[in-house]
Amino acid sequence: MKNSTETARERLQKLMVRGSEILGSKYPILGGAMTWISESDLVSAMSNAGIFGVLASGAMDGDLLRNEIELTRQKTANNFGVNIILMNPKLHDLIDVCGEQKVSGVILAGGIPDRSITDKIRAYGMKVIAFAPSLTVAKRLFKHGADALILEGNEAGGHVGPLSAMVLIQAVLLNMKDYPIFVAGGVFRGEMFASLLQLGAVGCQLGTVFACCRESTAHKNFKEALLKADGRNAVLPVQLDKRFPIAPVRAVENAGTEEFIAKQREVLAKFDKGGISAEDAKLTLEHFWAGALRKAVREGDVERGSLMAGQIVELVKEERSVREITDAFLTEAENFLAAHGYPG
Ligand SMILES: Cc1cc2nc3c(=O)[nH]c(=O)nc-3n(C[C@H](O)[C@H](O)[C@H](O)COP(=O)(O)O)c2cc1C
Repeated sequence: MKNSTETARERLQKLMVRGSEILGSKYPILGGAMTWISESDLVSAMSNAGIFGVLASGAMDGDLLRNEIELTRQKTANNFGVNIILMNPKLHDLIDVCGEQKVSGVILAGGIPDRSITDKIRAYGMKVIAFAPSLTVAKRLFKHGADALILEGNEAGGHVGPLSAMVLIQAVLLNMKDYPIFVAGGVFRGEMFASLLQLGAVGCQLGTVFACCRESTAHKNFKEALLKADGRNAVLPVQLDKRFPIAPVRAVENAGTEEFIAKQREVLAKFDKGGISAEDAKLTLEHFWAGALRKAVREGDVERGSLMAGQIVELVKEERSVREITDAFLTEAENFLAAHGYPG
């Protein structure tokens, strides 16, 4: 309910309280983990700017993660989290490292965690945040002890679910207003952030915009390719045959995108002629993109590497610092509230 004496800044502060408390950060904004990109430099810059940086453990084992956590701690005194992919064979080691290092929160990606995993993380005193692709799963995850959830729309960069953020907001967030839910996928402007908070979200997660920021150690070719791309260039791979499902990974199209279609054609023809088993066909297609994100992010191979990015590349047009991005975002949010009845 609007209180006429409340200023736009006070209103925004109030809207941000719940999410900030959960994350232990000044602002309820998660710097979404990005494999090969979300390492100590970027994550510490995020946490120093008041948002909640998240280290990506996708390409790490326990020792590498421990080292990265220690490096991040040397660069920031603020809280940050660790993103762990559930199918990582080192899942338990990675959780143990986070627990020993007293990381404040673990973000579980790449599936739906079962209770033993959420219990294990909580037993270390760490918060558990997971992704919910539907209302049913969201309810189950909260029942299993998740401290907060992220609704990530199909427009996001990297591995995505089938539904857009717009649909998830109405299907999940609006039905679970008392629960702590963050929204990800295509969030770029502070007006959107303020609107989501008003709808009941406790905060947001942003990825692509930070892949291109000054503190991101991604190769300059990678950043330039994203900054140059339009939203319609950030596509999901084409799947030629339902028998061989293709992982839905949103990335800016390049030569690799076309070659992957040709590869599917070749493998399918071979399979249909009995020249290759279904298992081998599946593995060949799975292996096509193996190592491709590293190739693009580290080596700057923007033709054959994977340029994972969300549709929001439509709006990401310049390389700014994390602080500049955060400050602009918050100013836009405040101005939006000021324009909607809260005095500036
Ligand atoms: C290059 C890249 C790599 C990503 N890697 C991961 C990852 O390792 N784990 C994860 O949970 N999400 C990953 N994501 C998703 C982001 O954390 C975030 O949820 C997403 O980018 C938000 O949507 P946006 O790109 O529209 O801002 C990645 C995204 C990008 C662009």
